[in-house]
Amino acid sequence: MKAGHDMMKHRRGFLQAAAAAFALSSLPFAARAAGAAAGKMKIGIVGSGRIGGTLGRIWANAGHTVMFSSLDLEHDKALAASVGANARAGTPREAAVFGDVLLVAVPYHALPQVAKDLGALLKGKVVIDTCNPFPGRDGEVGIWAQKKGAGLASAELLPGARIVRAFNAIGYSRLPEAAQSPGRTGMPMAGDDAKANAIASILVRDVGYEPVVIGPLAMGKHLVPGTTLSGERSPVEIRKIAATLK
Ligand SMILES: NC(=O)c1ccc[n+]([C@@H]2O[C@H](COP(=O)([O-])OP(=O)(O)OC[C@H]3O[C@@H](n4cnc5c(N)ncnc54)[C@H](OP(=O)(O)O)[C@@H]3O)[C@@H](O)[C@H]2O)c1
Repeated sequence: MKAGHDMMKHRRGFLQAAAAAFALSSLPFAARAAGAAAGKMKIGIVGSGRIGGTLGRIWANAGHTVMFSSLDLEHDKALAASVGANARAGTPREAAVFGDVLLVAVPYHALPQVAKDLGALLKGKVVIDTCNPFPGRDGEVGIWAQKKGAGLASAELLPGARIVRAFNAIGYSRLPEAAQSPGRTGMPMAGDDAKANAIASILVRDVGYEPVVIGPLAMGKHLVPGTTLSGERSPVEIRKIAATLK
């Protein structure tokens, strides 16, 4: 009960903080982003926590339509209601069907379950993968994914999905700030599918980052916290660092 209560408090706090941060920082940007996007997308969010909730809010305000999902539909309904007309809530399966593009933002230890539940629905879809493996949090699957490299591990778990790694090593609380100076900070990304990379790049720009695709999914091992690419860097700096990596 205590854990549940703490979690509800955490969720309420998160919703309020996210709404406040967005209200402060994104309104002028929303109009700019709405014009910049080549087309409005339907985005299914699997994992509507700190990263998924924040990105979904930004994309909805930029004119895309998002469906939030998690293991808690009530949370997602409240989140969608706080975002407004471009947001709705559903189950993870509904979000996977709904989205032309999926954002998967769950703890890495949940990815095998997501794969089991949604794998067939994700085949052929663009999947933006924010998930980072941490052995301390994610146990065996975290150890395995860290050894294999996060990009290749996600691809093995979700065969047929057009995975793009992005938003992996910038804290969620920084995301609403990017709109203040669009393009100043780069977003390192990795993916094997050029069209998927291009679609994800539109969504990265809509948040306010300049997309920098550093290579195929195998390079996804560098897109985790604690590497030389983590944190906020200019696009030029990211390209320079990426050129030294294998
Ligand atoms: N926080 C950051 O700043 C940050 C930055 C970059 C990358 N990341 C990475 O992005 C991922 C998400 O991080 P976060 O901080 O947003 O985590 P979070 O706040 O804990 O949110 C995780 C979300 O995943 C949902 N979830 C868990 N298992 C699920 C399942 N089987 N099916 C569907 N949804 C499921 C949770 O739902 P319930 O709440 O209902 O359980 C929750 O909505 C992690 O891998 C993290 O390492 C985080």
